[in-house]
Formats: sequence, structure tokens, C-alpha cells
Amino acid sequence: MSVSSPWWRSTVIYQVYPRSFADGNADGIGDLAGIRERLPYLAELGVDAIWLSPWYPSPMADAGYDVADYRDIDPLFGTLGEAESFIGEAHRLGLRVIIDVVPNHCSDAHAWFVEALAAGPGSQQRSRFWFRSGRGEHGELPPTDLCSIFGGPAWTRVTEPDGSPGEWYLHLFAPEQPDFNWDSPEVRAEFEDVLRFWLDRGIDGIRIDSAAVIAKDPALDGDSAYTDRDGVHEIYRSWRRLSDSFPGERILIGEVWLPDRQRFANYLRPDELHTAFNFDFLCCPWDADRLRECINETLRAHAPVGAPATWVLSNHDVTRHVTRYGREDSSFSFAGRREGVPLDLQLGWVRARAAALLAFALPGSAYVYQGEELGLWEVENIPYELRQDPMWHRSNHVDPGRDGCRVPMPWSGDEPPFGFSPPGSAAKPWLPQPADWKDRTVQAQTGDPASMLELYRAALRIRRDEPALGDGGMRWLDAPLGVLAFSRAADEASASGVVCVVNLSDAAVALPPHDVVLLTSGPLAGGLLPPETAVWLRRS
Ligand code: GLC
Ligand code: CA
Repeated sequence: MSVSSPWWRSTVIYQVYPRSFADGNADGIGDLAGIRERLPYLAELGVDAIWLSPWYPSPMADAGYDVADYRDIDPLFGTLGEAESFIGEAHRLGLRVIIDVVPNHCSDAHAWFVEALAAGPGSQQRSRFWFRSGRGEHGELPPTDLCSIFGGPAWTRVTEPDGSPGEWYLHLFAPEQPDFNWDSPEVRAEFEDVLRFWLDRGIDGIRIDSAAVIAKDPALDGDSAYTDRDGVHEIYRSWRRLSDSFPGERILIGEVWLPDRQRFANYLRPDELHTAFNFDFLCCPWDADRLRECINETLRAHAPVGAPATWVLSNHDVTRHVTRYGREDSSFSFAGRREGVPLDLQLGWVRARAAALLAFALPGSAYVYQGEELGLWEVENIPYELRQDPMWHRSNHVDPGRDGCRVPMPWSGDEPPFGFSPPGSAAKPWLPQPADWKDRTVQAQTGDPASMLELYRAALRIRRDEPALGDGGMRWLDAPLGVLAFSRAADEASASGVVCVVNLSDAAVALPPHDVVLLTSGPLAGGLLPPETAVWLRRS
């Protein structure tokens, strides 16, 4: 990484899921007071930035991704004043702050939607959303056959102010999440104002929720009516002009799930978003050839637009990777999520360690989802009646839902709530923590060199110290079948730098020439790198 490279090209971003990080006021739900108290933990872990999932006032139909007011904080989490203090405190500890903005939809409790319902058909208030008359003799059928991403129809019928059955409105997600109409100049102006509101408060970046689906074909028929419409780019160009007009490097990060890497890269052109989540890498199975191909294709797609790649293993929407990597099919897809599939958690944990060294050694920026540094697994036995995710409810319990990766963090102690709530608190965490997490707490792992936490701390420390890591290029090295080996150089001209080797084969392999072993994800065996293990080497 060159000294002049902007921060976001190599940053390590830690995702905080506010409900589940730390509870400061003893109600069993995480909040800003809890996060502020734990900021030193994040600084010490060695991440550069924090991304917080939504903290806005919300009825929580989709855990806060149903926003009722984009310019305030939900009382569950704290106050706007606390959010401002939090931003200042994070900055003083050298941590940047990235917030989540949800432009595709709001909550049905948002003032605009409430006004739209009251104003009736044909009103300007309704033009900010997608209201349509139904089909059928009495409009009793949805306007089109569009399906919600959470299951069921993407349309819900409203009752008009006079009490009659009325129009239908579009919601790509839950019915409590009406989609905005981005053809409306008012919607565009409103969001630019929201961005300004938070940029004025000093935030360093914005994670854009569902970034590729906000522009729509007004026919609203078929998936192509909302997936990756060309019109989306003009919106992000205007956001980029706005973020560039603020001092410092304020960044835009897209949640862009697209199978076509070329179309994906279009979002990262120099006048659009800075980076986007690499879901190909997250979905990729633990297989050397597939990973190599994914890495190559990622870098190939990013190169022409000049954007850095990102490396993501987990987030609040997907099966935790300790669990994924412990299964025979270690890929991820929403359609493939099932419970009760045989699982080897120890294997998943060992692979997750190697995967961390792989992700942190690749060129670009990397993500850590809260709890992955503790080796947390997906909690797959949450009692049905405690599950909250609309994906679980709306799929008629076919999809296990995303609650299993959102279970509150274990900090200390031998039993739940593991320090999640303040000492002496009688509140139960909003989702139950497994009793087995007693050896996964921050306290239990701190100082244990064999722990996941100390591996993450060491890796992030080395990543900061080694100029070859972070932004830049990489070169594959010859390696036996099933082994990934590549070098990172501090400058193009020299061979000196860091070498990363990941052994996905079933035999131990020799280490390439090196001066120093910087870090291993597990013990070497007689100088050889055992299966399911990764190593970082320095060579001059
Ligand atoms: C994004 C979020 C997810 C949310 C959805 C709807 O995919 O990451 O948690 O449910 O958008 O807002
Ligand atoms: Ca709380």
C-alpha cells in the first residue's frame, strides 16, 4: 500500500449490528451506550472503521431496515445526541464511522407513507411510492405477479381513506417496507438531504442498502423491472458529487448482489461508488480452484474501473462462515439455506482461521462481521417462537431466517448473557445465546494465543505494519494442487514482501522460500503447512 493511497482502498471495516453488540441499559437489546463502552475493544482489535447497521427510529419489522425517520435514532438505541458523541469518540480512537442508508424503501410508519395513504389515489404524496390499481373486475388482484424477495407477493392492497378497498403498493421486501419511487424528484432531493444531514455530523461513509434495486421500470413486471436498471447509475453519480463536496474522503459502499461481475463493476466507476461488497467471495465454497477463480475474476472486474476489491466472509444476512465451512457444501446461497444438515464445527473453525488470513492478505479492503473474530457459529436451534426475521415468517418456515447470525455477542462470564447486558441485569438477550459460548467470550479468548480473537488481533496488527498488505497488486506463486499461494509486494519492482499460502489439499506442503514466518492459522507440522491451514511469510 503506498502512503498516498486513500484510506478506503485498504481499510478493514468492522460491522456492528447494534441490537446484538452490547446492551448498555439492561433491556436485553444492544444500544449506543453499549457500543460506546466497547469502542476501546474495537480500537484494540485493530480494525480501521465501524459500519453500523441501521440505528434509525423503526417499528423493527425488518430489524431496523424499515426506517421511519432517516434523521434520528431509535429510542431503543439511544438519542441523536448520543450518536453524535459516539462519532466523536470513535474518531478520537482513530476509528472511522460508516452508517447504513436504506434508499429502496422506508417503513410503513414513515411520515411520507402515512401521508400517501391519507392523500388517496392520484395524489402527489402517492407518487413518491409505487401505487397501482389492481387487476380483476374490482381490482382484487395484484397489479403484476412480482414476488417479494422475502417471499409472497410484492404488492399489498390498501384501504382508502373512505374505507373502500383501494390501490396496491409495491414492496420488494416485507409489506412494512414500501418501495420509494426514484423517478420522483422529491425522493431524490430528500435522500440528498439525508446524506448531507449525516455527512455534516462527521460520518466517514455510507453503506447503501439494496443498492442495485432502487431504480424501477414503471411496468413493475418481472425481476428485470428492478434488478440493476441502467437508471441507477445517475443516482449514485449525484451522491458521489455530494460526498466529494465534503472535506476528507467520505465514501459510498454499495450492497450490490449481482451475478454479472461486469455489471457489478459499473457501480464502481470513478464517479460512482467507492467500493461494493464482494458477495462472490462470500458465496464461494471452500475449494482452492473455486477460490482462485473467484479472486482472479474479482480482480479482473475491478481493474478497469480502478476500484479496490473487498473481501467479505460474513454479515448479518448470511450463515456464519464457521458453520458454512463445516458443511460438505460450503457455498452460500439464500435458496440453499436449510437447518439440520450435518455439520463439523471444529472443521469450520479451523477453515475460518485460514480464511481470515486469506481475506486479510488479498489486495483491497476487508470486512469483519461482529463475532467472527470470536469464531461464533450460526445458532441454528433458536426456538421457533423466538425467531423474528421476516424471511423465516414469510417463507412459511422454509428459510431458517437470519436470526442465527444475529445472536448477541458473548463478552465475559460463564453463562448467558455473557456480559452482553450490564452486571446484575435481569433482562434476557433478545435472542438466546448458546451455553457453549462460554469459551467463545472475549474474556475467555483474550491472551490465549490459540484463540480466534488473538489470531484476528495478530493478523490485523501485521496487516497495518506490512506495507505490502492492503491496497496493491498480487502475484500467484506456483503451488501444489489444492494450495493457494501468492505474494504481495510493497512496490512493483521488488520481490520483497509478504507471501500467503493456504493449504486446502489433504496433504501437508512445504513452505516457499522466506525469511520469517509472520503468522500461521494453526501449528506447522515439522516445518510443513498442514491441511486447512494458512501462513503469512515475509521474504526480502
Ligand atoms: C439488505 C439488508 C437486509 C435487509 C434488506 C432489506 O439486504 O442487508 O438485512 O433485510 O436489505 O432492507
Ligand atoms: Ca439496551
